[in-house]
Formats: sequence, C-alpha cells, structure tokens
Amino acid sequence: MSNILVVGSINMDLITVLDRFPKVGETLLGQTFTTALGGKGANQAVAAARLGADVAMIGAVGDDANGTSALNILKQEGIDISGIGVKQSMSSGIASITVAESDNHIIVVPGANFALSIEDIDAHTALFEQADVVLCQLEIPMDCVLHAAKLAKKHQATFVLNPAPAQKLSAELLSLVDVMTPNHTELKLAFALDDTASDEEIAQILPVHMQLVMTEGANGASHYGIDGKRHWNAFKVEAVDTTGAGDTFNAGLAVYWSQGLDVAVERAQAAAALAVQQLGAQTAMPTAEAVSVFIQAQA
Ligand code: RIB
Ligand code: NA
Repeated sequence: MSNILVVGSINMDLITVLDRFPKVGETLLGQTFTTALGGKGANQAVAAARLGADVAMIGAVGDDANGTSALNILKQEGIDISGIGVKQSMSSGIASITVAESDNHIIVVPGANFALSIEDIDAHTALFEQADVVLCQLEIPMDCVLHAAKLAKKHQATFVLNPAPAQKLSAELLSLVDVMTPNHTELKLAFALDDTASDEEIAQILPVHMQLVMTEGANGASHYGIDGKRHWNAFKVEAVDTTGAGDTFNAGLAVYWSQGLDVAVERAQAAAALAVQQLGAQTAMPTAEAVSVFIQAQA
C-alpha cells in the first residue's frame, strides 16, 4: 500500500445546518450545530488512511481544546502525528461552515496553521524519505508548500498539489508539481488564465511534466496532459453535505495514483460519492472495501 505524507492544515469545523442562507444583516434560526474535525490537510490525511494507506502528517495546531481533540482524532485514524506541532498561545484553525440549499459557505480562520514554518518541516525530513506521495493544499503558508515540493522532489516522491483555496501560483512551484487537482476556479487562478480559456489552451500552458486532473463536482473529472483531454462522469448520488468531497477525491487519487489514471480517478470519484452522503467532511469517508463494493454495485 502507498505511503502518503500530507503537509497541510488542521481545522475544527463548526457546522450549522439551516434551510436557506441568511441575507446580509439578517438573523435566522438554524436547525443543528455540530463540530467535527476538518481542514483540507486533515481531511485528506483521514481519507487516505481510511482507504488503507500509511499516512503521516506535518502541520500545526494551537494549545487549545480544539488542537487536543484534533490530535486525538488523527491518532485514532492511525495517522502518524509525530510531524504535527503545538503552537503555544495560538488558536487552532477553525472553519465556520453553513450548510443550506444543498450547498455550503465556509469561512476559515487559519490560526496555528499559518504559524507552520520551513523549520518545522525540516525537523521531519525522515517522513519525506519514506513517502511515495507528498500531498499539499493551500491552507498553510506558501513558503511551506514550496519547501514541501522541493523535499518531495529531493526524495523522489510524487508531489500532488490540490491548489485550494484558489490563488495564483509561482512559476517555481508549478515547475515542481507532478499532479495538480484544481477545480475550474482554482485552475484559472493558479495559471492566471482568463475566463474564456478553452480546453486546448489549458492543455497547452501545462508544464510538460505535469498531469492535471480537474474536478468538476457533480459533472465528474477531466484529465489534461500532452495527449489532450479525457473526461469521466461522476457517480450519481444524493448529496447531504459536499464539504470535504474534493478532499476525499484528492486522497483517493493519491492513494491509487500508482495503479494508473483510470483506476485512480474511478476510485477517487467513488470515495467522494460515498463521502457526500452524510453531514461533515470526514463522517462518511469510506474504506477501500466500501469503495470496491460501491463500484461493483454501479456496474
Ligand atoms: O475542504 C473542506 C475543508 O475546508 C473544511 O473541512 C474546512 O475546514 C476547510 O478547510
Ligand atoms: Na460529508
């Protein structure tokens, strides 16, 4: 099984479910309030661990109750948390999430996630030595993402970048990415493309070494490479909460990457389809067996 190192964020998600989103200045009564572990880094680590990978994580929490419970949950999931530091006198990251109208709004306050440093990463280079895949997102400082990419290259691990939340990426970072997994908005911002860019134009601007898998939510996923574009439809399911669906897809892609693009995309999409069927990012993230059962049931 693959060995995955996630260098990324850890948040406590504060989830409110209500009928519809409030208008500016409006007060509404919600239906339920739940707290659950989140953060794109922690979500991808947990999803990969459930799928059977050996997972280690480098990141940071604050010295508060949220940080303690985040570490406990990650440990219970079988994740190597030796690379996660506790930042003194800082709050752990939180995400205020509103779920309504079959969609969500998310506000992230990074807290300790933004205190992660290059020195923190360098203290755990042994984790890069054992990794097949290094998986990053953009909820930690950009210099840490770049440093993780360099260490991945140095130790011959595949560097997978989920460029979320959306932002423009430097040419240096792009030159180090083996696999990039943006959605449409993230793709445009990452490469500073204008809104009218066609599929052909997208394929042309990709660095030759890079494989790009664009996630398209309920519409599936597309791969862009030197041989053009390929598309896969998504599995049709009734979504309860899509928070973390992208994270589950990314974890699946990383875990199954060595089995080839078709297997990786199919299993990543199946994992995401299962994950969206319950409230919370991590609640319904499936095991490898559940993914196999789901795929067989579709055939
Ligand atoms: O991708 C979903 C995640 O984004 C949530 O868990 C939230 O913490 C934010 O980081
Ligand atoms: Na979910």
